[in-house]
Amino acid sequence: MDKKLVSIRGAVTADNTVNDITGAVRLLVRTLYFKNALRNDDVVNITVSATDDITAFHPARVIRECGFAVPLFSCVEPNIDGGLKGCIRIMITAYSDNPVRNIYLRGARALRPDISGTYAIALDGPSGAGKSTVAKIVAKKLGITYLDTGALYRALGLKTLSCGVSIKDAAKVEECLSSAEVIIEYRDGAQHVILDGEDVSGRIRTPEVSMAASAVSAIPYVRQKLLSLQREISKTSNVILDGRDIGTVVLPDAEFKYFLTASPEVRAKRRYDELAAKGESVTFDSVLADVNERDKNDSTRAVAPLKQAVDAVSIVSDDISAEAVADRIVRDVTECL
Ligand code: DC
Repeated sequence: MDKKLVSIRGAVTADNTVNDITGAVRLLVRTLYFKNALRNDDVVNITVSATDDITAFHPARVIRECGFAVPLFSCVEPNIDGGLKGCIRIMITAYSDNPVRNIYLRGARALRPDISGTYAIALDGPSGAGKSTVAKIVAKKLGITYLDTGALYRALGLKTLSCGVSIKDAAKVEECLSSAEVIIEYRDGAQHVILDGEDVSGRIRTPEVSMAASAVSAIPYVRQKLLSLQREISKTSNVILDGRDIGTVVLPDAEFKYFLTASPEVRAKRRYDELAAKGESVTFDSVLADVNERDKNDSTRAVAPLKQAVDAVSIVSDDISAEAVADRIVRDVTECL
């Protein structure tokens, strides 16, 4: 695709200190570059403006000192009654073939309530990477809603098994699921999945349902059926969603995107420990085989395959605890708000 000339805008607020101005401008420019997949070669110029109360350090100098070797122009904004104080704005003119992502951080989020009302964290990755453990910790620390999207696919996997139809027969699966009603409820902060009026939160956690969920999740009808439910929940509150296609399909504009992975062996060990703790009689080898098969299903399906979004931060959790991964995400979010 030919690259087009685009204007990408962003703003941030800072206290009038060298440290805060430096931190705020670095954060804004790096986020703009990362979210828009920019390279210096693509950038024509950067214009910087600041309100007249930003005097401790030159914002444009921060950009230069960060190593962004592009033409810079800076100016002071007029002092308008009621205007946002301590505000630094940036406009990047660049060649790009990606959709423009304008970024408003910290107090500057108030300038664009249309794009900065609530925020969403997309946490994608293969099964057993630790997504749900991380997401629960993040949700608790930030006081936001957690949606385990895998549970929705599991509910439809369970329904398909109960219909007794072949999971390979997409038309039969669709017929079975056409009347299925999946509702999410939160009780004492925990997510409950209600399938046709029954709380199935416990029943969807068996290896049989895992395989069924992976199989039905490849059917376009199933993905479409669950798309609006996932988006609805994300519209009304700050959320963290974990899944396979959150950053790429469900919430492509999510402010924060992560792709959490771990080696198949580490993931299988975690799943095995989880199942063994529940008293399930499984062998490590069978769990590893399931992990490999689900990875293959999830990443090779034609619709919304498991894939890292271009603007997702990759985290490998083999040697990092869920707590440490969650801390990293919480730090990123609080820095931007
Ligand atoms: O995360 P999990 O293991 O509970 O997910 C169960 C299955 O559902 C998984 O194999 C793939 C599918 N899934 C999906 O396709 N898209 C999502 N957003 C979440 C799960």
